[in-house]
Amino acid sequence: MTAAAATSVLLAVGIGAAPPGTAVTAEAVIPGDGLALTPPMGFNNWNSTHCRAEFNEAMVKGIADIFVERGLKDAGYQYVNLDDCWALPQRGPDGNLVPDLVRFPNGIKAVADYVHSKGLKFGIYTSAGTKTCNDNGFPGALGFEQKDADLFASYGVDYLKYDNCNNQGVDAKLRYTTMRDALRRTGRPIVYSLCEWGENKPWEWGKDVGHLWRTTGDISDSWNSMLGIAKTNWALADYAGPGHWNDPDMLEVGNGGMTDTEYRSHFNLWAIMAAPLLIGSDLRKVTPETFEILGNREVIAVDQDPLGVQGKPIRSANGVHVFVKPLKNGDKAVLLFNETEKTERVTTTATEIGLPQATGYKVRDLWAYTDRHTAGTIATTLPPHGSAMFRVNADRGWAKYPPAVDTGAALQTVYPGASPLVEPGQNATVTTTATNNGRVPAVTVKSALSGPAGWEVLPESPSDKIMLRPGESLSTKWTVKVPADAKPGTYVLAVRTTYRPDADTRFDFEVRVPPPAPAANAYVSDMAWLSSTNGWGPVERDTSNGESGERDGNPITINGTTYAKGIGAHAPSNVEFYVGGRCTSLTADVGVDDEEGNDGSVGFEVWANGAKVADSGVMTNAMPAKPITANITGAMVVRLVVNDGGDGITSDHGDWAGLRVTCS
Ligand code: GLA
Repeated sequence: MTAAAATSVLLAVGIGAAPPGTAVTAEAVIPGDGLALTPPMGFNNWNSTHCRAEFNEAMVKGIADIFVERGLKDAGYQYVNLDDCWALPQRGPDGNLVPDLVRFPNGIKAVADYVHSKGLKFGIYTSAGTKTCNDNGFPGALGFEQKDADLFASYGVDYLKYDNCNNQGVDAKLRYTTMRDALRRTGRPIVYSLCEWGENKPWEWGKDVGHLWRTTGDISDSWNSMLGIAKTNWALADYAGPGHWNDPDMLEVGNGGMTDTEYRSHFNLWAIMAAPLLIGSDLRKVTPETFEILGNREVIAVDQDPLGVQGKPIRSANGVHVFVKPLKNGDKAVLLFNETEKTERVTTTATEIGLPQATGYKVRDLWAYTDRHTAGTIATTLPPHGSAMFRVNADRGWAKYPPAVDTGAALQTVYPGASPLVEPGQNATVTTTATNNGRVPAVTVKSALSGPAGWEVLPESPSDKIMLRPGESLSTKWTVKVPADAKPGTYVLAVRTTYRPDADTRFDFEVRVPPPAPAANAYVSDMAWLSSTNGWGPVERDTSNGESGERDGNPITINGTTYAKGIGAHAPSNVEFYVGGRCTSLTADVGVDDEEGNDGSVGFEVWANGAKVADSGVMTNAMPAKPITANITGAMVVRLVVNDGGDGITSDHGDWAGLRVTCS
């Protein structure tokens, strides 16, 4: 749109018209208004409810109650924020937004008052457009900025999330600045969150407009979504600071789509990035582990550190990252993060993280809650998708802490790089290693490996040592006997290394008992899988990919041919399944599903025991299904990959039609 055209839209919608006589007050909003000097913390309903009916007064009040009762308020969570769908689709006769009285029978002011009565703050949502984002959403504030800002102020709003839908092509900076000025005129201090998804590089202009700005599209409750967003956001570290934060979107911790290990990494990443911590799960329904993660005050203190520097990776290679965030008191917060599917031992040093030369350093583990000293090396073994956070300083009193010993374990796998699998009744070989990173010897060092009930664990080599010198390791080989009746599933083995006086370190790792390998020819969609990941929604069995919930796809259709059996994926996708050396070949007709118009382009790959055995090349919507056959003779594990064909994942619905394995 040209500037002139944009202006005429503005005139048409009446943007920027301030009610006569309203003075701009000094105290709010931006720049330098003293708000959001640390990243905002609180709650927003969107990630857990979207517009479903459970988003209502009872929920909002329930969250406020839990903030107080469960210590989250004391831990720093403050804002209780409403997202889309709190209002009706039409404005009232006076032009004001009208609360949805089914959800909020007492109106919004009553909810705000309740939240305030708990000593908390209240936030609301609208869009910098003619309508909010949801189909059943409500009128946006474009052209109604002052009216809506005044209404929000009359409710007692302390935080506004201002979205980007239906923006009519009006310049973003102008739209967001107009609302800033409207908020300012209300005279109420309101934290102002720009939610334009990073489309107009808000990090370049947002500092004087709002207190935080989204840097990406919406997060969803999956590892891939969270990781992709984190990566975009961490590259923007230098733009953040007190009163102006990068916002990688609200937390998914507790919503159920990731493991607790993954949620801890999500939380650690957000904290090291000084991201806003807006809880996005329904705290009335979450597990004790979710409270433990969200309530970790030492990690929160890293996020909320008053220096306000966004931490960033100082080293990244092969999916392993070392992040540093300098803190106000001179400490360094360090996040060691493993985005890969393999267990990794990750190390850094005091010098690498930027601490001055010293004889010893104090290392605080923010999840084990232990204090140790190190001669310089900071090391930990991380499970797939795992992370650890430390607070490190050149404390002169380092010698009063036990030496830091890190411990880890590796299970001999069916092929190099495979995830740890053992069949029922078989033996596995595990090697545990404990290393002293301290300045002084660790004494009376003893490693113990424990398995689930009924699993026998036998040391095959010495598991203790009187003295472990600085830099020295104790490696122990163990035989682990898996009971013959072990059910398929994930089991935890734990290595714990103890040393005097009263110090210990542990590493828990997962071992998988796979579903039985097929004993005859089988459709892969009828088998249990080891794992599956997808760009959008779950990988579907016998339908195409519907992009969100389970079983929301269509019959698999490629170039007009429909298939009863197969797998519906969306790039990037990975499906792994166990064949235990019993199968010889895999066949399928692969192609892009017809449901996606003409945009999709993907590639199909088959991997057997970690080696690629078939590749379709790039396939587009225009192409008919391509028959592929892969030799999987002798393989224990088969992996199916759908890649994006090199052009991003938009519309990439990849079908493995008629997918079968030949086995005996
Ligand atoms: C957009 C925003 C989300 C959420 C929805 C509500 O997608 O980015 O965070 O507010 O709108 O409809």
